[in-house]
Order: sequence, then structure tokens, then C-alpha cells
Amino acid sequence: MSTVQEKIALMREKEAHIMQGGGAKRIEKQHAKGKMTARERLNMLFDENTFVELDMFVKHRCTNFGQEKKDLPAEGVVTGYGTIDGRLVYAFAQDFTVEGGSLGEMHAKKIWKVQDMAMKMGAPIIGINDSGGARIQEAVDALSGYGGIFIRNTAASGVIPQISVIMGPCAGGAVYSPALTDFIYMVKNTSQMFITGPSVIKSVTAEEVTAEQLGGAMTHNRTSGVAHFAAEDETDCIQQIRRLLSFLPSNNMDDAPVFANEDDPSRIEEKLNQIIPDNPNMPYDMKDVIRLLVDNGDFYESQEHYATNIITCFARFDGHSVGIIANQPKVMAGCLDINASDKSARFIRFCDAFNIPIVNLVDVPGFLPGTEQEYGGIIRHGAKMLYAYSEATVPKITIITRKAYGGSYLAMCSRDLGADQVMAWPTSEIAVMGPAGAANVIFRKDPDVKEKTQQYIDEFATPYKAAERGYIDMVIEPSETRPRIITALNMLASKREDRPSKKHGNVPL
Ligand code: HXC
Repeated sequence: MSTVQEKIALMREKEAHIMQGGGAKRIEKQHAKGKMTARERLNMLFDENTFVELDMFVKHRCTNFGQEKKDLPAEGVVTGYGTIDGRLVYAFAQDFTVEGGSLGEMHAKKIWKVQDMAMKMGAPIIGINDSGGARIQEAVDALSGYGGIFIRNTAASGVIPQISVIMGPCAGGAVYSPALTDFIYMVKNTSQMFITGPSVIKSVTAEEVTAEQLGGAMTHNRTSGVAHFAAEDETDCIQQIRRLLSFLPSNNMDDAPVFANEDDPSRIEEKLNQIIPDNPNMPYDMKDVIRLLVDNGDFYESQEHYATNIITCFARFDGHSVGIIANQPKVMAGCLDINASDKSARFIRFCDAFNIPIVNLVDVPGFLPGTEQEYGGIIRHGAKMLYAYSEATVPKITIITRKAYGGSYLAMCSRDLGADQVMAWPTSEIAVMGPAGAANVIFRKDPDVKEKTQQYIDEFATPYKAAERGYIDMVIEPSETRPRIITALNMLASKREDRPSKKHGNVPL
């Protein structure tokens, strides 16, 4: 009969063994690649000493190919909960040092448990992926494991924020859990996502590509739009995740935290009066406008490197989180195209699901013309934006800084798509199309075409036709935009808007 002391000692011994993961050699290999271990990552992610590990004694029960002889500490995944900036958050982190972080039946069940708990408690969940994918020896049990994660990801969508972090390989069907979540972080040079790796691609299509070119952080941040954030290294990545969470509520019934700050809500910003060039074809940087408007000039962009003709970012006004969607005149004149539509529609739907008011900054000349866009389905993709704005019931404020033409005027959250407040700078041109094109259609055969075009510009390339009909609520001096937005947000704080009850809508996909 062992004593209590001996039992405690045995428990500590078991714990210590598990805490070593795949052992010193494999940990060294992990570090040599510039990667942390699963527990190091979690300890850095959570507030100091708050992470509570669950299920460390879980074991696999696979007997194929001699697996029964294998000891796989914590089943290759560390799961649990803790606090981030004092708020409850759940997490799982795959441990690459244990069987390559591969996912088998019991590994998956540990993840399911924290997913279920996060849902019950209404807290965000963060998944750190670093894995060789399905544990090959466990065959279809591993596939079932993924399936159970996917169905939970989908059930949690719009209920709790779900953040995926890629800190190593993430291949095959394993990529689809991150793809089902709200945001994907990738670390430059050490993380890759792909459906099939370079060797399979070479054998099937003879195409030669490196893993980093195929599915590295910048590939997915710049080219595919699969990822939302790129980090320089793991420490940067973890700091960015904590920052993102600061803008978000814990769940869809909650409000985002409010941060007191010194930035005057009544701040008048004279520089905004100089930002729009006299020549309407000259670009300017919409990020300068955002910086001058928001608290402390601080904003956090999602998909910063993708579809840069539109900006999607989180920021605060008088301490309250907002999502900003802004055309970028510096890139493709701020035109809307397929990728910009997808990027913004998804961001709008995230903000709406999580009670984050939406502020739109509009300077848009139209949808991008061309066969590439038409064949690619700009009609279907552009419709996502219309749908997302129309469906959103959070406070929606639209500020038109310059161009707002045609379908793109509507698509950028016009009054008719449910904007609660529409403000226009005196420099705005709200019209059915650009004045030169419009005059060319209606005055083409008129001998006084030049004069008439000028007349059209003077009368129609202004905010006043729209103001006459009440499509915009006010024409404001650019310098007073910040206090105007804050006043409107305060006014809209109690907004309630219902939609007819339905199972779900049929968003154009
Ligand atoms: C079991 C695996 C594994 C896996 C890696 N390991 N992947 N064990 N199942 N899927 C083990 C290795 O045997 C090795 O064990 C340890 O993890 C580390 O792997 P290494 O190969 O030594 O590491 P590295 O050289 O860094 O290469 C990493 C890797 C490579 C690129 C991820 O391991 C790899 O290609 N793995 C297989 C990837 C794959 O094809 N997975 C299945 C995809 S199918 P020891 O004991 O030597 O340390 C899939 C379907 C999911 O995922 C569908 C969901 C719907």
C-alpha cells in the first residue's frame, strides 16, 4: 500500500513526463526551426499563470501498426482555458514534438471538449495548428476526428469568436477547420497551409513549387486571401492575437470591451479639410483619413495585404470598438472587384454577428470593368456585399468623402441598404455614374456637349442632389467628422432592428 505522499509523487512524475512532450531532442528540433512548443505558446498567449491544462492524461487506443506500444504524451495536443486581458478564453495547441502533432481519435476528442466548453461558456476559442495532419495509423477514426471539429466550428460560427493560428504545417483536410473559423493567423517562413503538398503537385501536374511558395504566410495573406494576418515570428503572432481579442466581445450576446482613453471625442481635425485633392482623378491614402479619425490613430487591419483596394479594420471611437470598411483610392482608384467584395462581405458579417458597429468610408468610382471580372463572377461576388450590408442590423454609419457612383454607391452601404446615418463631405459626388461618362451618354449628339458636361458636373457631381432627396442626412465639414461619428454612434447605441424569422438566408456564395 503506497502512502498519500507516494501517490502524490507518482502523480507529479506522470505529469512531469507528459510535460516533456516528445522529449528534449524533438523540442530542440522545434526550437531550431524558430518554433515554440505547444505549452510555451499557450503560456505566452494567456495572462501569466492563468492557463489551466485539461486532459493531460488522455491516451490513444489505436492498435494498428504497433501503435499500442507508443507513448504519446497528452495525445499530441495541449488543451485548456485561461484568461487574456482578464477575460476567459479556451485554446488548443497541437504539439508537433509528439507524433508530428498528428490528429487521431483521442487528440480530436480533446479538441471537441474545449470547443464544447467554449460554446457553453460563451468564450472565444483559439486553435494553434502545427501538425502532420490525420494520424495515418488511425485511418478513418482520424477523419471522424476532423469531421467532429468541423461541425463544432460551424455551430460556433457567429456565436463565439474562433481564431486559428498556423504555426507549422497544416495540410490536407486539416486546413478546413481554420477555414471555417473567423480569422487565420500565419507566421512567416514557418507555417504552411495546402490541400496537397509540393510532391503530390509535382506528380500530378509536373508543377514545381516550394512549400512556402505554395502555402506560406504571404501566399495566403496576399494571393489567396485564405489568411487574415501575417506575423513576423511567433511572439509577434501571439501579441497580435491578444490585440485582436481586445476589439471583440466574448460572444454574440456580449458587447466588446470599452477602453477609456485620452483622445478627445470632440477633436476637430483640420488636416481632413486638406486631404481631398482638387483634381478628382488624383488619389490619396484613405488610411490617413482613418488614422486622423479613430482613437489615438490606432487601427488593426484584417487582410491588410489582400484586395488592397478596400480596407477592413478594427478601431475605436471614444473607447468603443467599430469595424471600418473603406475604399482605398490609392489602389485601382478604389474600385470594387471580386476580391474586395469577398473581403468586405466577410468582414461585415463578422461585425454584424458580434455586435460591432460598422463605419464605412466611401470613395468608389464603380465596379472594376473587364472580362476577367465578369467571367470570374463579379455579379455573384459583388452581391455578397449588398447582401452583407442589407442583412446587418448593427449600427451602420456611412461617410462619403468623394466618389459614390452607381451600383458601387449602393454597395458601400447607402441609405437604401440600411445605413442609419449617411454623411457626405462637400467634396462628394453622388451620382449614377462618373460625370464625364454620364454627359457622354446624354449629350453625345449635342453641339454644346462641352458646356453641358460642365453643367452636369456642377449640378450632379455634388452631395446636394442626394441631400435634396434625403438619401444623405447631412453634409459635413471634413474636419468635424470624428465628433459627428461619435455622436451618431452614441445615438445608435440602443438600435434594435428585427428581420423576419427564418432558418437562414441564402447568401450568394
Ligand atoms: C502519423 C506522423 C504524421 C501523420 C508526421 N508524423 N505526420 N505520424 N501521422 N500524419 C510523425 C513522423 O512519423 C515523425 O515521427 C514525426 O511525426 C515528425 O515528422 P517528420 O516527418 O520527422 O517531421 P518533418 O521532417 O518536419 O516533416 C513534417 C511533415 C511530414 C511535412 C508534416 O511529417 C509529413 O509530410 N507528414 C505527413 C503529412 C501527411 O501526408 N498527412 C496526412 C494527410 S491526410 P518520429 O517518430 O520520427 O518523430 C489528411 C487528411 C485529413 O490529413 C482529412 C480531414 C478531413
